[in-house]
Amino acid sequence: MLQVKNLTVFYENALALNGLTLDVRPGEIVGLFGSNSAGKTTLMNTVAGLTLDLKIKEERRGGERITVHGDLKFEGEDILQIKPSDRVKKGIVLCRERHPVFRESSVVENLKISGYLRPTAEVYLTIALVFEMFPHLVRLKSRKAGLLSGGEQQMLAIGMTLVARPRLLLLDEPLLGLSPAMQGDIVRAMRDIQKRGITILVTEQYARPIFPVIDRGYVIENGTLIVSGTGKELMDNPEVKSAYFGI
Ligand SMILES: Nc1ncnc2c1ncn2[C@@H]1O[C@H](COP(=O)(O)OP(=O)(O)OP(=O)(O)O)[C@@H](O)[C@H]1O
Ligand SMILES: [Mg+2]
Repeated sequence: MLQVKNLTVFYENALALNGLTLDVRPGEIVGLFGSNSAGKTTLMNTVAGLTLDLKIKEERRGGERITVHGDLKFEGEDILQIKPSDRVKKGIVLCRERHPVFRESSVVENLKISGYLRPTAEVYLTIALVFEMFPHLVRLKSRKAGLLSGGEQQMLAIGMTLVARPRLLLLDEPLLGLSPAMQGDIVRAMRDIQKRGITILVTEQYARPIFPVIDRGYVIENGTLIVSGTGKELMDNPEVKSAYFGI
C-alpha cells in the first residue's frame, strides 16, 4: 500500500532520514520505533506531504533549505510531489504528534470541522462510529476541547482523523504522555480501527505498549534503519529488546 524507498531528508545540512526503505501492506499495523530525533516525525510528515509544504514555504521566504530524495509510492502511484490535501483525498491521513484540537470548540464541533472534505451524511455516520470506538468521549460531547485531559484530547484527535476517512492512518506517537489506562484505550482503538479495514503506520519511542497489536515493525536511529521484522522477531532481538522494550 505504502512504499518508501531510499528516502533521504536533509534540513539544511542535517540528515534527518538516511536512505530509509520500508513498506506497509494493506490491513497491517506497522510500528516505527526510534528514540528522540530518530526521524519518526520527519517520515510521517514526508508521507503526509507536510515536509513538501514546509520546503515550499522555506524556499519562498529564503529560509532553511530542505532536500527530499527517494521514492514514495501509495498504491503504486508516486506521491512525493502531491500536496497534503490531495494526499488526504487519496486516504492518507496523519494524526500529528501532540495533535492540536480547536480548544474553544466542543468535541462534536471538532469532529465536524475535520469532516469538511466529506459529504455531510457520511460525517455524521463517522462521528457516531467515533463515539462507539471511544465511549469515554460520549459524555464529553459538548465540552470545549481545551478542557479535556491529555488522553481525552488524544482520543478526540484520533477521532478527528477518522472523520477524514483514512485508508492509511498515520499515528505519530499517539501514546505520548498518557497514563497506562489511557494507553490501553488507544491501543484497543487501534485494533478496532484495523478491523474496520484501515491500515495503520504508528510511531513510538517504546515498542512495549503497542507490541501486542503490531504486525511488523521497523527500528530507526539517526534516520537510518537498524532492524525490521515481525513483532516477535523484534522482541527476540536482544539489542532491540533492551533499547525499545525496556526489558
Ligand atoms: N524543520 C526542521 N528544521 C531543522 N531540523 C529539523 C526540523 N525538523 C526536524 N529536524 C531535525 O531532524 C531530526 C529528526 O527529527 P524528528 O522530529 O523527525 O525526530 P523524531 O524521531 O520524531 O523525534 P521525537 O521522538 O523527539 O519526536 C532531529 O535531529 C531534528 O532536530
Ligand atoms: Mg516526533
